[in-house]
Amino acid sequence: MTTLAVIGTQWGDEGKGKIVDLLTEGAQMVVRFQGGNNAGHTLVVGGETYALHLVPSGILHPGKTSLVASGVVVDPGVMIGEIRALRARGVGITPDNLKISEKAHVILPYHKLLDEAREGRAAGARIGTTGRGIGPAYEDKASRLGLRMGDLLDQPLFEARVARALEEKNCLLANLYGLKPLAVAPILEMAGAWADQLGPFIADTFRIVKRAADVGLNILFEGAQGVQLDIDHGTYPFVTSSNPTAGAVSVGSGLPPNRLDKVIGLVKAYTSRVGEGPFPTELVDGTGQRLREVGNEYGTTTGRPRRCGWLDAVVVKAAVDLCGMASLAVTKLDVLCGLPEIRMATAYLLDGQRIDHVPGPLSDFARVEPVLETFEGFSEDISGARTMAGLPRQARIFLDRLSEVVGAPAGLVSVGPERGQTIFPGSFF
Ligand code: GDP
Ligand code: IMO
Ligand code: MG
Repeated sequence: MTTLAVIGTQWGDEGKGKIVDLLTEGAQMVVRFQGGNNAGHTLVVGGETYALHLVPSGILHPGKTSLVASGVVVDPGVMIGEIRALRARGVGITPDNLKISEKAHVILPYHKLLDEAREGRAAGARIGTTGRGIGPAYEDKASRLGLRMGDLLDQPLFEARVARALEEKNCLLANLYGLKPLAVAPILEMAGAWADQLGPFIADTFRIVKRAADVGLNILFEGAQGVQLDIDHGTYPFVTSSNPTAGAVSVGSGLPPNRLDKVIGLVKAYTSRVGEGPFPTELVDGTGQRLREVGNEYGTTTGRPRRCGWLDAVVVKAAVDLCGMASLAVTKLDVLCGLPEIRMATAYLLDGQRIDHVPGPLSDFARVEPVLETFEGFSEDISGARTMAGLPRQARIFLDRLSEVVGAPAGLVSVGPERGQTIFPGSFF
């Protein structure tokens, strides 16, 4: 039995969806454990593209169990829409193969309104959130004002707790943001429809994970976002409101920490970031534009153009150190094809002093200068490569240097969006 977590090492969108879909082949269960529908995970299989936000990325494989565990925040309307859209494309989803934790918190209409209103007012201090209500839903979880998926099945309790929450939310909506206060009744009506449709999927996912681990199933944990968006360890306040680091596998699913066997770090061969916040290797020139166009760096969730720049190995090393990553999966190497030279930050200069870590204070991180190493580019089309030896020498030198700087080998290299466009000589399970 192996339990394996796939974690983004950068600012998200590293290609976690593609790799989770691929690795599901060897797993019996795939578990989302944090984040919500701020995530956008793209799978390309047989020329068909699937953009998933809440449903785990193993769903295309028949006979596997998908869990949305307690650490996730669930927008029930989005979940219902996603299940419906997948079913319409022939993906078999039933309460037998998809389970949603009774303890997962619900994103309610006021969470989205508050997320948008706060961002709208914050001129100069915007986070650039996805506007999906993620932050406000996690705030309510922490302040014990939240509602959980299981509460949908207890109407009187749900009504009382929504009424209690609205006392505070309406104060903010009306008095701070000048919006119309919300009434309990329409939310209750919506919740009734959600309960009817999602009720059969709601389960005690902790017990399901525990049983799977006890009988020795291979379990794959699908991270959302990336380590630099972690609320504790990322570039706060320009972060999301959950922990995309490996520690959250345990907290968000209930798997005991000593039962997580391996962590795979997902690394895009360059860097992208959506939303605000410092980004030392950002390229605001033609090369950045080229990475965005060739890499199709437009958000899966919001369609926003992603900021692009060179690979930052200092950031990747922070993820390896925080998550104990045994191995890396490097994606989108094909996007670098045709560049005359390729760069990688292997250290920073902070006020002229060389450092090899991400500094804690954001004001320090905002003014570091990347120490860039330059590599020879390659012009061969590598999308057909299926072995490491089939990669151009220049690409292998680049990958070897990354492994050397961060202290973890590249066990998988992705050379195109399709499931099969992958160099994967071994197995992670
Ligand atoms: P995630 O959020 O980490 O799952 O990543 P996204 O799905 O948001 O963004 C990654 C994008 O790159 C998607 O459009 C994928 O289809 C695509 N992709 C994944 N791996 C590769 C690759 O190796 N090469 C290319 N060209 N595209 C890839
Ligand atoms: P995947 O799983 C990239 C970013 C937002 C914003 C910040 C806070 O597809 O890699 P939030 O809505 O979470 O409060 O926004 O986090 N963000 C992501 N960026 N990929 C994601 O997910 C992201 N999820 C959130 O752009 O900067
Ligand atoms: Mg994404």
